[in-house]
Amino acid sequence: FAPKSLLGQHVLVTAGPTFEAIDPVRGITNLSSGKMGFAIARAAREAGAEVTLVAGPVHLPTPRGVRRIDVDSARNMLAAVDGSAKEATIFIATAAVADWRPANAAEHKIKKDGSGEVPQMQFVENPDILAGVARSPRAQSGELYCVGFAAESENLEANAQAKRVRKGVPLLVANIGPSTFGKDDNALLLVDDEGVSQLPHASKRLLAQQLVAEIARRVTGMSA
Ligand code: C5P
Repeated sequence: FAPKSLLGQHVLVTAGPTFEAIDPVRGITNLSSGKMGFAIARAAREAGAEVTLVAGPVHLPTPRGVRRIDVDSARNMLAAVDGSAKEATIFIATAAVADWRPANAAEHKIKKDGSGEVPQMQFVENPDILAGVARSPRAQSGELYCVGFAAESENLEANAQAKRVRKGVPLLVANIGPSTFGKDDNALLLVDDEGVSQLPHASKRLLAQQLVAEIARRVTGMSA
């Protein structure tokens, strides 16, 4: 593992879930722990990069030397990403962004009125942060290298390739196997225009280091 393979690079990472408010005391979220994204931010920093970590609500300490921006909703995550993407040279989207949010968050707590009626909720689609960044001129020109993640449960390879094309990113990383939410280990499938390779089952810490090395090799041409 070449410790300084990302020297001079600025890595932007999203991690964790998002939280979409229903009212001031309730909301919709998911089981993403943020562990993989935090491990990647740490590994990128250790590889010499300047690192900005945009984190949804998680219970994890900030890796040393990493600039952390805490957000809640997908729209806040998008604003933080947009604010940092201009300086970034690598964008790694590990966050489990909510696909939908309640159309209108209530200003005050929704109360039971005793009638037995349940609230009806309308949803609207959230922005796709990764796809948006991947369409930006800096990403299109190759100044900003974008990496997406996928949690697929079937037809892993075909779905990962399709998602890579749909998101418009050069590298798509798929979690292999059953849900890794909250776990400390994982295995990864890397899909790019050259084909498919695997990082076998290991701790998220080790996988993050290996993935950073793979990204460094693709971005800088350096063998790591
Ligand atoms: O479409 P799907 O949610 O499976 O895509 C997963 C990838 O896209 C991840 O890299 C995730 O961080 C990113 N994503 C995003 N914004 C969304 C949805 C997904 O950045 N609204």
